This record gives sequence, C-alpha cells and structure tokens, in this order.
Amino acid sequence: MIAKTACSDFLHFFRSWVSNPLRVAAIAPSGDSLARIMTSEIAALDGPIIELGPGTGVFTRALLARGVSESDLTLIEYGPEFIGALQARFPAARVLQMDAAHLAQADLYEGEPVGAVVSGLPLLSMSPLKIASILAAAFTYMRPGGAVYQFTYGPRCPVPRPILDRLGLKAVRIGGTVRNLPPASVYRISRRKPLELSRERLRYRSSETEIEDIAAFSDEAGG
Ligand SMILES: C[S@@+](CC[C@H](N)C(=O)[O-])C[C@H]1O[C@@H](n2cnc3c(N)ncnc32)[C@H](O)[C@@H]1O
Repeated sequence: MIAKTACSDFLHFFRSWVSNPLRVAAIAPSGDSLARIMTSEIAALDGPIIELGPGTGVFTRALLARGVSESDLTLIEYGPEFIGALQARFPAARVLQMDAAHLAQADLYEGEPVGAVVSGLPLLSMSPLKIASILAAAFTYMRPGGAVYQFTYGPRCPVPRPILDRLGLKAVRIGGTVRNLPPASVYRISRRKPLELSRERLRYRSSETEIEDIAAFSDEAGG
C-alpha cells in the first residue's frame, strides 16, 4: 500500500477511535505482519469467507493477496464511517453494515459453505453473552474443518474458556507479532468434534432456551 493511503487510513482509524474507543478498540489499523498471520492458513480454495470488523480493510487485502476471490468475501462492519471506503475498495465483496451479534439472523448463506471467519472484533470489550452469540452463529455457517481466526492484544485467548467448552470449541495460538501497535497474538478457534453445532439446531431452538443457555455462559465466565 502506498504511504499516502496508509497515512489517510491511520487518520481515518484514529478519528473513529476518538469518537468510539470501545467499538474501535485500537488507535491504528493492524499492520501487515499481523494481517499475514491472520490469513496464513486461508487459501483460495476455502471459498466463502466472512470477515467481522474489517475497519479499513487490512485483513481483507491480505485475504485477496492469498488468492481469495473478492466476490467470496462478506464484510460485516458496524461502524458507518468505514462502510463507504470498504465498498469503494472492494466493489465485488458483499459489505454489510450491521452488528456482528446479529449474524445468526442475517441468513448470509444456505447450509455451511464458509471456509473461515476472520475476526478483527474487539472481543475484550464485549460481554460474554455477545461473544457467545457471535461465535455460535459463526459456526452455524462454517463447514467441517473451518475456523475462526481472532487476534488479541491480551495475554490469552479473548474467548473465555466456559464459552469454548459450552460451544464445543478449542482455541490454539497460531502466532504473534511485536511488529504491530500494540503487539498481538492470533488464535485459531475450531470445533473439537466435527459439526457439533448445526445451523438447524440453532434455528429451531426457542429464543427463550437460547437466552437461558447464553446467560449461563455469562455467569460461568463471570460476566
Ligand atoms: C480493532 S478494530 C480492527 C479493524 C481491522 N480489522 C484491523 O485489524 O485494522 C475493530 C473493528 O471492529 C468493528 N466492530 C466493533 N464492534 C463490532 C460489531 N459488534 N459488529 C461489527 N463490527 C464491529 C469496529 O468498528 C472496527 O472496525
């Protein structure tokens, strides 16, 4: 990326952080080194990919560099200030302005075609309830063997252990970099057993049961 674009992205990002520090949760876009680790296990053949919280599109560009087709990307960004630039930069991608917590209701795909979910979401500033909803929904779209890639500035996986246990998921640190502001680690979150979460199961559970289940994550995670 040319220096002028990097500088304007930094200013854009910094202004967003000033107006909404909890949602944006970083003063600068992720660096190329982190973007490479986040996308290192993703190949062109992985098919549809969902990106959560793309911001200015650092990970999106890295996905394209790995050969993923732009038309295979669904970018879910809550911040209205990022939407125009994402649409202009990635015209063939599907860009949706929405809260990732509503992923389950979005009906993005039929069945489970998604090969990976790349997440730049600030999980450390989200409630356990919200984290559980986002992860549960992500895996309803995910085909067997697919994974969520999540980075964190913290010392451990930002998904609390009780949530991983309840959803039948495991998290493995696949790398980290100090060449990022701040330094960051990347986790691969995948199913312990294939197809433990199915889209049909989630769809037909009553909303009351779902809320009770997720509230239990919240209690166990101390949220
Ligand atoms: C730490 S920034 C990461 C941006 C970009 N992926 C990067 O690494 O430079 C977090 C991004 O997630 C977005 N975001 C925060 N909460 C969200 C939510 N509930 N749903 C969708 N996007 C959200 C923010 O607007 C911001 O773009």
